[in-house]
Amino acid sequence: MPRLSRRTSWDLATNPIGVRVAAARASGDRLFDLTESNPTRCAIVDGTPYLAALGHPRGTSYEPISIGEVEARAAIARYYADRGVTVPIERIVCSASTSEAYAWLFKLLCDDGDAVLVPRPSYPLFEFLATLEDVNLIPYPLIREEGFRVDEHGLERAIEGAGGRARAILLVHPNNPTGTFVRRDDAETLERACARHDLALVADEVFVDYAHGELPSDRLPTFAGRDRVLGFTLSGLSKVCALPQVKLGWTVMSGPAALVEPALARLEVIADTYLSVSTPVQRALPELLAARGAIQGAIRARVSANLRALDAAIAEAGDDGVVRRLPCDGGWSVIVEVPRTLDEDGWIARLLDEERILVHPGYFFDLDREGYLVVSLLPEEREFQDAIGRLVRALHR
Ligand SMILES: Cc1ncc(COP(=O)(O)O)c(C=O)c1O
Repeated sequence: MPRLSRRTSWDLATNPIGVRVAAARASGDRLFDLTESNPTRCAIVDGTPYLAALGHPRGTSYEPISIGEVEARAAIARYYADRGVTVPIERIVCSASTSEAYAWLFKLLCDDGDAVLVPRPSYPLFEFLATLEDVNLIPYPLIREEGFRVDEHGLERAIEGAGGRARAILLVHPNNPTGTFVRRDDAETLERACARHDLALVADEVFVDYAHGELPSDRLPTFAGRDRVLGFTLSGLSKVCALPQVKLGWTVMSGPAALVEPALARLEVIADTYLSVSTPVQRALPELLAARGAIQGAIRARVSANLRALDAAIAEAGDDGVVRRLPCDGGWSVIVEVPRTLDEDGWIARLLDEERILVHPGYFFDLDREGYLVVSLLPEEREFQDAIGRLVRALHR
């Protein structure tokens, strides 16, 4: 039998939560899935006109440009210009998704056994993205009690712990699942650490357009266009236009020209090796990005209605602090603090068995202790309202 690689030797058995979910589904009962973060399943935006844009005859010829067609990159530069940031189109690199952009950046920045620093808590896909590139992940702590701000000493300790193998600091801005934007002073802390240790800064800004209202003035609106260190800001259509099926992401490079230019030259070769972004989506991109106002408006309305429903359910259950929503600035999910009379798996099991409600445990996102559930704010409003009321009452029982 041919050997398979060590890096893919995952335990692929269904975990106990998966087994329970399958049993709940098999029972024929309706399941309320409050982990749903795929906007195409939440009846928010009708994707029909956007998919029609992909069928336009302009997509029939093929003239590949490794980092993306000029018109596509110009549309991305306009997206940043609308946010008040000037991004030269020569510093934009298109990919099929943000996840692919991470893989390319790991290839660019890291050799086998090098490390990247990732915030804790954050997004669970990092583990797979890093393993597939033979890169080690070293977590650096965000301080929960202080609104998930960066712990400067913890960050330094994590860099030292990499024993000279650290190559980049990653951050998710706003963070998934905490929904917190990076404070301006924390952005400087991160950049100082990058400058001191010769690290690149990779900022995942897929949710950056989804602040809940006006962003507080001490929060950074975007990392794009900052010039102190070699920076890579990632985003894409999955969240900007709620079109994950369309597959286009991008990386914006920033920093001193002497750092950006050699890195960009190599990134172009990586992109040229795959040429993974389809021509139809690149040519439709100006049209798709121009439509984002309406799409994002619909998502913002959904997210804020569901956030209000959650707060109302908590208030209705009694102001005794048993169930608490953690403060957040934006994003599509929220963290709920729950009694530690059961562990997170215990709550997941009880909510599934008794209420047919599915939520994520906090440990899935590497929260630093037990007692949290993560709830998606995308599900359809009436279903969300009903399920969240039942969830909060169950947590009080
Ligand atoms: C924080 C974050 N970054 C990146 C992604 C992946 O986006 P893409 O579809 O562009 O790979 C996700 C998907 O949920 C995400 O939550």
